[in-house]
Amino acid sequence: MKLMVVGGGGREHAIIKKLKENPSVSEIFALPGNGGMADDCTPVPIGALEIEKIVAFAVENKIDYAVVAPDDPLVLGCVDALEEKGIPCFGPHANAAIIEGSKVFSKNLMKKYGIPTAKYEVFTEMNAALAYLDSAPIPTVIKADGLALGKGVIIAQTREQARDAVISMMRDKKFGKSGEQIVIEEFLEGPEVSVLSFTDGKTVVPMISSMDHKRAIDGDQGLNTGGMGTIAPNPYYTAEVAERCRKEIFLPTIAAMNAEGRTFKGCLYFGLMITKDGPKVIEYNCRFGDPETQVVLPLLESDLLTIMQAVTNETLAETEVKFSNQSACCVIMASDGYPLSYQKGFEITMSARAKAKTYVAGAVRKDGKLLSNGGRVLGVTEIAATLPEAIEKAYDLVNEIHFENAFYRRDIGKRALLALEE
Ligand code: AMP
Ligand code: GLY
Repeated sequence: MKLMVVGGGGREHAIIKKLKENPSVSEIFALPGNGGMADDCTPVPIGALEIEKIVAFAVENKIDYAVVAPDDPLVLGCVDALEEKGIPCFGPHANAAIIEGSKVFSKNLMKKYGIPTAKYEVFTEMNAALAYLDSAPIPTVIKADGLALGKGVIIAQTREQARDAVISMMRDKKFGKSGEQIVIEEFLEGPEVSVLSFTDGKTVVPMISSMDHKRAIDGDQGLNTGGMGTIAPNPYYTAEVAERCRKEIFLPTIAAMNAEGRTFKGCLYFGLMITKDGPKVIEYNCRFGDPETQVVLPLLESDLLTIMQAVTNETLAETEVKFSNQSACCVIMASDGYPLSYQKGFEITMSARAKAKTYVAGAVRKDGKLLSNGGRVLGVTEIAATLPEAIEKAYDLVNEIHFENAFYRRDIGKRALLALEE
């Protein structure tokens, strides 16, 4: 089978490595992929947003199955466009990807169907939002409605910060059209859990839980990033919490999307906060998380392609989805300065052992060398029987990888270890 994966980061590399385990896979193209994954697939210089070119490539190359991984092509209808040409795909249609594409949509969905989430108000007009802030409880959370490269959420610790956030989104159009509508919501507290799930619109199968580390610096300090590391499973996601999530969040969300005529098929990501009043939804993503995928898929024991095809064919209920009972830790090696400005183009060297366990997020191949080419450069994943061992092994591997301005957090998994001791 010839496969195609749309996207080009560490998440896509993890998906590709897992898909390759199926013996019927003869070739995998990554659009655009990156030079660091060229041993596992064929990178093709077509961007993830170039939908017409993606479809033309798939038709010309007789692609048997496509996986669309990033949020923006999903929201733009990449799956719809590929299916129109008869290419079977993994990923939601645009009318379901809106669950991530519009926060106003997802908040209203949760309110309508009684799915637990932070209390909120929607504003389309700046003065109304500013007037509301005069008496809103502080801290408060301001969210741009649309996609904003993960930067559209501002936790305001003061009324002034909240006002600045509203003005930057609604008057200064910091996120363009994405900020035309905003959500102002209640600040929630508690540990966060990411649960990715497979769903074919009838059945929902949660994957092993994970924990992201979004801030740039140790101790959860510094700016928000795309994610500096992950561990799985997440110790805050106990069997009891999992059961509540299934009943109060996962099944109601699938049913709600069906009731709205927006059946979701693909990977639905639940960003949860375990508050003292129980689990609540912080966000939905219409795709695999990055870098959650880099710890979740290495623990998947069943065949990924078989599961994905079962989602497409709506036979997930009859398909085995089994996870290992081991633990995983992924440490992201970034370029110093990320998420702001950083230098790139430094040669990356690593041991063969490290290479086998590294997912490449941002690198190019030039004259036989691998050069850093992004903010997040590598994701280094190790698996072990216990979480402390997985963390130790992952950091051992990091020591076998070098590039000049490498930067990484030293405390990935620390909060999870504290939870295990509680
Ligand atoms: P999002 O882009 O929606 O994932 O939000 C980014 C991060 O902001 C989340 O992972 C949370 O850490 C934080 N966040 C979002 N909404 C809230 C909220 N209502 N209360 C507290 N923290 C939040
Ligand atoms: N790691 C969070 C995300 O993929 O949105």
